[in-house]
Amino acid sequence: MEKIKYKRSSFTGKLGFVLAAAGSAVGLGNLWRFPYITAKCGGGIFLLVYIILVVTLGYVLMSTEIGLGRLTRQSAIGAFGKLSPKWTFLGYLESIVPIIILPYYSVIGGWVIKYLASFVSGAAVNTASDTFFNGFVSKTVEPVIWFVLFLTVTTIVIACGVQKGIESTSKIMMPALVVLALIIAVYSMTRPGAAAGIKYFLIPNTANFTKDTILSAMGQMFYSLSLAMGIMITYGSYMKKTIGISQSVFQIELFDTLIAIIAGLMIIPAVFAFNGADAAEKLNAGPGLMFVTLPQVFTSMKGGVVIGSLFFILVLFAALTSSISLMEAVVSIFCDKFNMKRIYSILLTFALSLLLGVPSSLGNGIWGNVKIIGMDFLSFFDFISNNVIMPVVALLICIFVGYIIKPKAIIDAAEENGFKFFGKTMYTVLIKYVAPICILVILAYSVLTGLGIVKGV
Ligand code: PHE
Repeated sequence: MEKIKYKRSSFTGKLGFVLAAAGSAVGLGNLWRFPYITAKCGGGIFLLVYIILVVTLGYVLMSTEIGLGRLTRQSAIGAFGKLSPKWTFLGYLESIVPIIILPYYSVIGGWVIKYLASFVSGAAVNTASDTFFNGFVSKTVEPVIWFVLFLTVTTIVIACGVQKGIESTSKIMMPALVVLALIIAVYSMTRPGAAAGIKYFLIPNTANFTKDTILSAMGQMFYSLSLAMGIMITYGSYMKKTIGISQSVFQIELFDTLIAIIAGLMIIPAVFAFNGADAAEKLNAGPGLMFVTLPQVFTSMKGGVVIGSLFFILVLFAALTSSISLMEAVVSIFCDKFNMKRIYSILLTFALSLLLGVPSSLGNGIWGNVKIIGMDFLSFFDFISNNVIMPVVALLICIFVGYIIKPKAIIDAAEENGFKFFGKTMYTVLIKYVAPICILVILAYSVLTGLGIVKGV
């Protein structure tokens, strides 16, 4: 038998597990993407569809990944092969995802540190100019420095271990994040002119509701719940059997969805208060919303520099807990695959992420001419992971559980120690029939929109 050099870590208890997993789920997707997609795609009606998807498809897929991890005590790379040797390839495929995402996610994390530094050092007004963001990201050295800083902080947390690193930081950052989000939302909703934003965000607008909006709700749900990234399998492998899977998944989903809704109440009313006439258009600005519009909104308001600083602390916490989960997924994959000591695996992950992250950073500037299928490095890595590999992985996981190991294997694992797994029939029907079809449609749609062949939301 192979000698195992390290003992598998675990989270201490339910709170630690739920907060760490919620930390992974709550990220830029909640703070930036969710508010503008909801506003654009029909407000309250989009929200309703999103919530239905979270408690059905989201519940099924998240329980599956956590269950696979706990059942096999392996990260993505070993989990599938352990249950059925022919499916080892799926472990490799899923393992590619966090390896690709961690570097470019850290580049964006670096931008967040830069904005936070500008706000707290009294240079917030600079960030409000229309050209600041493009000027900054196209520089050669500075964004790389912030990227390395972000990656280093993430690495230090991982080096402190699952309990002392991931769990302890999540137990501080996640409650702090809720408090910050509530303070900013109250501030934002009480600005003059904010009411129009609250209405735009929450009141159902059927005119904006089309089949595209359902597809974007599905895509958003996958991303927001950190599914098909190898993360939930790894975290599941650290989960004790004295914790219920169903119950934990509901709590993680509730946390993630509430933060997304609060983010909407924070951002949309503020943009309306700042510029009611062009608000809808400003919300559409993609990444520009967070890095161009919001700094303008904050710096124009009374007390806005303080609120803006709190906002970027919030974004930083959200981004850090997500990058921590990504890095842990990669580190555990290397440990499991190469039977490596954790510290070597951490160093390897750090080095690899530096190597892959630098092109993503330079792709906005001096390497701007290097294109892969018409995209700069960062967009390409984002496209290939989110739009291509993740849906393929999710589809294969459904087939694997639905037809190879059978849904009962996951249900039984979740019911160990007398816990109840909710919605067993729904779980079986969804994972065998409904989820594969939905994911196939998402795959087709996301490839076509990603390549610009079909216009997305
Ligand atoms: N779930 C995160 C979000 O909503 C996204 C994410 C997490 C991306 C972890 C990568 C890794 O933003």
